[in-house]
Amino acid sequence: MPYKLRLDKLLSNQGYGTRSEARAALRGGRVTVNGETERDGARYVDPALDIIALDGERVDAAPAPAVMMNKPAGVVTSTDDRHNKVVIDLLPAIWRARGLKPVGRLDIDTTGLLLFTDDGDLAHRLITPKRKVGKLYRAVLDAPVTDEDIAVFEAGAPMRGYTAMPAKLERDPSADAVALVTVHEGRYHQVKLMFASRGRSVLSLERLAIGPVRLDPALQPGACRALAPDEESALRESCGAADRNAGR
Ligand code: URA
Repeated sequence: MPYKLRLDKLLSNQGYGTRSEARAALRGGRVTVNGETERDGARYVDPALDIIALDGERVDAAPAPAVMMNKPAGVVTSTDDRHNKVVIDLLPAIWRARGLKPVGRLDIDTTGLLLFTDDGDLAHRLITPKRKVGKLYRAVLDAPVTDEDIAVFEAGAPMRGYTAMPAKLERDPSADAVALVTVHEGRYHQVKLMFASRGRSVLSLERLAIGPVRLDPALQPGACRALAPDEESALRESCGAADRNAGR
Protein backbone atom coordinates (compact mmCIF):
# COMPACT_ATOMS: atom_id res chain seq x y z
CA MET A 1 0.00 0.00 0.00
CA PRO A 2 1.56 3.40 -0.91
CA TYR A 3 2.00 5.79 1.96
CA LYS A 4 3.46 9.26 2.21
CA LEU A 5 5.23 10.72 5.14
CA ARG A 6 6.93 13.97 6.03
CA LEU A 7 10.64 13.68 5.39
CA ASP A 8 11.67 14.80 8.91
CA LYS A 9 9.26 12.27 10.41
CA LEU A 10 10.52 9.46 8.21
CA LEU A 11 14.13 10.14 9.23
CA SER A 12 13.18 10.19 12.88
CA ASN A 13 10.98 7.09 12.59
CA GLN A 14 13.83 5.26 10.94
CA GLY A 15 15.97 5.89 14.00
CA TYR A 16 18.02 8.87 12.78
CA GLY A 17 17.50 10.96 15.91
CA THR A 18 14.66 13.15 17.09
CA ARG A 19 12.53 15.20 14.71
CA SER A 20 14.64 18.31 15.47
CA GLU A 21 17.89 16.38 14.90
CA ALA A 22 16.46 15.24 11.56
CA ARG A 23 15.62 18.84 10.66
CA ALA A 24 19.17 19.89 11.56
CA ALA A 25 20.54 17.19 9.23
CA LEU A 26 18.20 18.50 6.50
CA ARG A 27 19.25 22.12 7.05
CA GLY A 28 22.86 20.99 6.91
CA GLY A 29 22.32 19.64 3.39
CA ARG A 30 23.02 16.05 4.42
CA VAL A 31 19.79 14.58 3.02
CA THR A 32 18.96 13.79 -0.60
CA VAL A 33 15.70 12.71 -2.20
CA ASN A 34 16.16 10.99 -5.55
CA GLY A 35 19.69 12.33 -5.72
CA GLU A 36 18.79 16.00 -5.07
CA THR A 37 19.65 17.76 -1.81
CA GLU A 38 16.48 18.42 0.16
CA ARG A 39 16.37 20.85 3.06
CA ASP A 40 12.62 20.94 3.67
CA GLY A 41 11.52 18.52 6.39
CA ALA A 42 7.87 19.21 5.59
CA ARG A 43 8.22 17.64 2.14
CA TYR A 44 6.11 14.50 1.75
CA VAL A 45 7.92 11.45 0.41
CA ASP A 46 6.88 7.92 -0.42
CA PRO A 47 9.53 5.49 0.83
CA ALA A 48 8.29 2.91 -1.67
CA LEU A 49 9.04 5.25 -4.62
CA ASP A 50 11.55 7.87 -3.45
CA ILE A 51 15.20 7.17 -2.80
CA ILE A 52 16.16 8.92 0.42
CA ALA A 53 19.73 9.13 1.66
CA LEU A 54 21.51 10.64 4.65
CA ASP A 55 25.21 11.34 4.17
CA GLY A 56 25.01 9.33 0.96
CA GLU A 57 23.60 6.21 2.66
CA ARG A 58 20.09 5.03 1.85
CA VAL A 59 17.66 5.54 4.68
CA ASP A 60 14.65 3.82 3.20
CA ALA A 61 16.63 0.62 2.63
CA ALA A 62 17.88 0.48 6.22
CA PRO A 63 16.36 -2.22 8.41
CA ALA A 64 13.30 -1.04 10.32
CA PRO A 65 14.36 0.01 13.81
CA ALA A 66 13.03 -1.63 16.94
CA VAL A 67 10.41 0.66 18.45
CA MET A 68 9.29 1.28 22.03
CA MET A 69 5.72 2.16 22.99
CA ASN A 70 4.36 3.37 26.30
CA LYS A 71 1.38 1.04 26.21
CA PRO A 72 -1.71 2.60 27.73
CA ALA A 73 -4.30 0.62 29.72
CA GLY A 74 -7.36 -0.62 27.81
CA VAL A 75 -5.45 -1.65 24.69
CA VAL A 76 -4.86 -5.29 23.71
CA THR A 77 -1.36 -6.51 22.73
CA SER A 78 -2.40 -8.00 19.46
CA THR A 79 -2.65 -7.13 15.80
CA ASP A 80 -6.39 -7.73 15.69
CA ASP A 81 -9.24 -7.85 18.25
CA ARG A 82 -12.98 -7.72 17.68
CA HIS A 83 -13.90 -5.75 20.76
CA ASN A 84 -10.94 -3.67 21.87
CA LYS A 85 -8.41 -1.28 20.47
CA VAL A 86 -5.11 -3.03 19.66
CA VAL A 87 -1.55 -1.77 20.08
CA ILE A 88 -0.87 -1.97 16.36
CA ASP A 89 -3.52 0.77 15.86
CA LEU A 90 -1.26 3.10 17.84
CA LEU A 91 1.80 2.50 15.65
CA PRO A 92 2.61 5.12 13.01
CA ALA A 93 1.70 3.91 9.49
CA ILE A 94 5.30 3.58 8.33
CA TRP A 95 6.06 0.99 11.00
CA ARG A 96 2.83 -0.87 10.41
CA ALA A 97 3.68 -0.97 6.72
CA ARG A 98 7.13 -2.33 7.55
CA GLY A 99 5.64 -5.23 9.45
CA LEU A 100 6.65 -4.36 13.01
CA LYS A 101 5.03 -6.67 15.54
CA PRO A 102 4.83 -6.51 19.35
CA VAL A 103 7.45 -8.48 21.27
CA GLY A 104 5.53 -10.64 23.75
CA ARG A 105 2.35 -9.47 25.44
CA LEU A 106 1.15 -7.21 28.18
CA ASP A 107 -2.30 -7.68 29.72
CA ILE A 108 -4.98 -5.22 28.66
CA ASP A 109 -4.67 -3.34 31.97
CA THR A 110 -0.85 -3.41 32.11
CA THR A 111 0.91 -0.23 31.02
CA GLY A 112 4.45 0.65 30.06
CA LEU A 113 7.24 -0.62 27.87
CA LEU A 114 6.24 -2.64 24.84
CA LEU A 115 8.81 -3.27 22.10
CA PHE A 116 8.08 -3.82 18.42
CA THR A 117 10.35 -5.31 15.77
CA ASP A 118 10.18 -6.93 12.35
CA ASP A 119 13.05 -9.22 13.37
CA GLY A 120 11.52 -12.52 14.47
CA ASP A 121 14.85 -13.84 15.76
CA LEU A 122 15.30 -10.81 18.02
CA ALA A 123 11.72 -11.11 19.30
CA HIS A 124 12.19 -14.80 20.10
CA ARG A 125 15.48 -14.23 21.90
CA LEU A 126 13.93 -11.48 24.04
CA ILE A 127 10.98 -13.67 25.02
CA THR A 128 12.56 -17.06 25.62
CA PRO A 129 13.45 -17.73 29.27
CA LYS A 130 16.63 -19.45 28.01
CA ARG A 131 18.22 -16.08 27.24
CA LYS A 132 17.35 -14.75 30.71
CA VAL A 133 16.51 -11.23 29.51
CA GLY A 134 15.06 -9.47 32.57
CA LYS A 135 11.69 -7.74 32.41
CA LEU A 136 11.33 -5.13 35.16
CA TYR A 137 7.84 -4.29 36.45
CA ARG A 138 6.52 -1.82 38.99
CA ALA A 139 3.55 -3.31 40.80
CA VAL A 140 1.19 -1.44 43.10
CA LEU A 141 -0.04 -4.01 45.63
CA ASP A 142 -2.79 -4.26 48.20
CA ALA A 143 -0.20 -4.75 50.99
CA PRO A 144 3.53 -4.10 51.50
CA VAL A 145 6.17 -6.62 50.43
CA THR A 146 7.54 -8.81 53.23
CA ASP A 147 10.99 -10.36 53.59
CA GLU A 148 9.33 -13.74 53.10
CA ASP A 149 7.88 -12.59 49.76
CA ILE A 150 11.38 -11.60 48.66
CA ALA A 151 12.79 -15.00 49.69
CA VAL A 152 9.97 -16.94 47.98
CA PHE A 153 10.35 -14.99 44.72
CA GLU A 154 14.09 -15.63 44.83
CA ALA A 155 13.57 -19.36 45.35
CA GLY A 156 10.78 -19.62 42.74
CA ALA A 157 7.16 -18.79 43.56
CA PRO A 158 4.82 -21.80 43.52
CA MET A 159 2.21 -21.16 40.86
CA ARG A 160 -0.70 -23.09 39.38
CA GLY A 161 0.97 -26.28 38.15
CA TYR A 162 4.56 -25.00 38.02
CA THR A 163 7.24 -23.16 39.92
CA ALA A 164 8.24 -19.75 38.63
CA MET A 165 11.87 -19.13 37.76
CA PRO A 166 13.77 -17.16 40.41
CA ALA A 167 12.77 -13.49 40.34
CA LYS A 168 14.17 -10.43 42.05
CA LEU A 169 11.68 -8.63 44.28
CA GLU A 170 12.46 -5.26 45.86
CA ARG A 171 10.51 -2.60 47.72
CA ASP A 172 10.07 0.58 45.70
CA PRO A 173 11.16 3.35 48.07
CA SER A 174 8.51 5.65 46.49
CA ALA A 175 5.61 4.11 48.45
CA ASP A 176 4.70 1.47 51.00
CA ALA A 177 2.95 -1.18 48.95
CA VAL A 178 4.85 -0.72 45.72
CA ALA A 179 7.21 -3.42 44.47
CA LEU A 180 9.83 -3.68 41.75
CA VAL A 181 10.04 -7.17 40.32
CA THR A 182 12.35 -8.56 37.65
CA VAL A 183 11.26 -11.76 35.90
CA HIS A 184 12.93 -13.73 33.11
CA GLU A 185 9.87 -15.48 31.72
CA GLY A 186 6.58 -14.24 30.38
CA ARG A 187 3.81 -16.70 31.12
CA TYR A 188 0.22 -15.51 31.00
CA HIS A 189 -0.40 -13.19 34.00
CA GLN A 190 3.10 -14.06 35.25
CA VAL A 191 3.57 -11.27 37.78
CA LYS A 192 -0.05 -11.17 38.96
CA LEU A 193 0.00 -14.93 39.57
CA MET A 194 3.33 -14.76 41.41
CA PHE A 195 1.84 -12.19 43.80
CA ALA A 196 -1.41 -14.18 44.00
CA SER A 197 0.68 -17.14 45.28
CA ARG A 198 1.54 -14.87 48.24
CA GLY A 199 -2.08 -13.86 48.78
CA ARG A 200 -1.55 -10.41 47.23
CA SER A 201 -3.47 -8.53 44.58
CA VAL A 202 -1.74 -6.40 41.97
CA LEU A 203 -3.71 -3.16 41.73
CA SER A 204 -1.70 -1.84 38.81
CA LEU A 205 1.25 -3.07 36.82
CA GLU A 206 3.69 -1.14 34.65
CA ARG A 207 6.67 -2.52 32.75
CA LEU A 208 9.70 -0.28 33.15
CA ALA A 209 12.45 -2.15 31.29
CA ILE A 210 13.34 -5.06 29.05
CA GLY A 211 17.00 -5.99 29.43
CA PRO A 212 19.02 -2.78 29.08
CA VAL A 213 16.18 -0.77 27.49
CA ARG A 214 14.18 1.41 29.87
CA LEU A 215 10.84 3.01 29.18
CA ASP A 216 11.49 6.61 28.10
CA PRO A 217 9.82 8.75 30.79
CA ALA A 218 9.12 11.43 28.14
CA LEU A 219 6.82 9.06 26.20
CA GLN A 220 3.16 9.80 26.85
CA PRO A 221 0.79 6.81 27.12
CA GLY A 222 0.14 5.55 23.59
CA ALA A 223 3.21 7.28 22.12
CA CYS A 224 6.15 5.47 20.56
CA ARG A 225 9.62 6.17 19.26
CA ALA A 226 12.39 4.29 17.49
CA LEU A 227 15.11 2.94 19.73
CA ALA A 228 18.31 4.93 19.32
CA PRO A 229 21.00 2.86 17.57
CA ASP A 230 22.92 2.44 20.85
CA GLU A 231 19.76 1.28 22.66
CA GLU A 232 19.04 -1.27 19.95
CA SER A 233 22.65 -2.48 19.93
CA ALA A 234 22.56 -2.96 23.72
CA LEU A 235 19.24 -4.81 23.43
CA ARG A 236 20.60 -7.12 20.75
CA GLU A 237 23.77 -7.72 22.75
CA SER A 238 21.72 -8.62 25.85
CA CYS A 239 20.16 -11.59 24.04
CA GLY A 240 22.93 -12.48 21.56
CA ALA A 241 21.03 -11.26 18.47
CA ALA A 242 22.90 -10.07 15.38
CA ASP A 243 23.47 -6.28 15.33
CA ARG A 244 21.66 -5.00 12.25
CA ASN A 245 22.74 -1.46 13.15
CA ALA A 246 26.46 -2.11 12.87
CA GLY A 247 27.96 0.84 11.01
CA ARG A 248 24.94 3.13 11.36
N1 URA B 1 2.72 -10.20 34.24
C1 URA B 1 1.39 -10.01 34.31
O1 URA B 1 0.73 -10.53 35.19
N2 URA B 1 0.80 -9.24 33.38
C2 URA B 1 1.48 -8.62 32.40
O2 URA B 1 0.88 -7.90 31.58
C3 URA B 1 2.87 -8.81 32.34
C4 URA B 1 3.48 -9.60 33.27
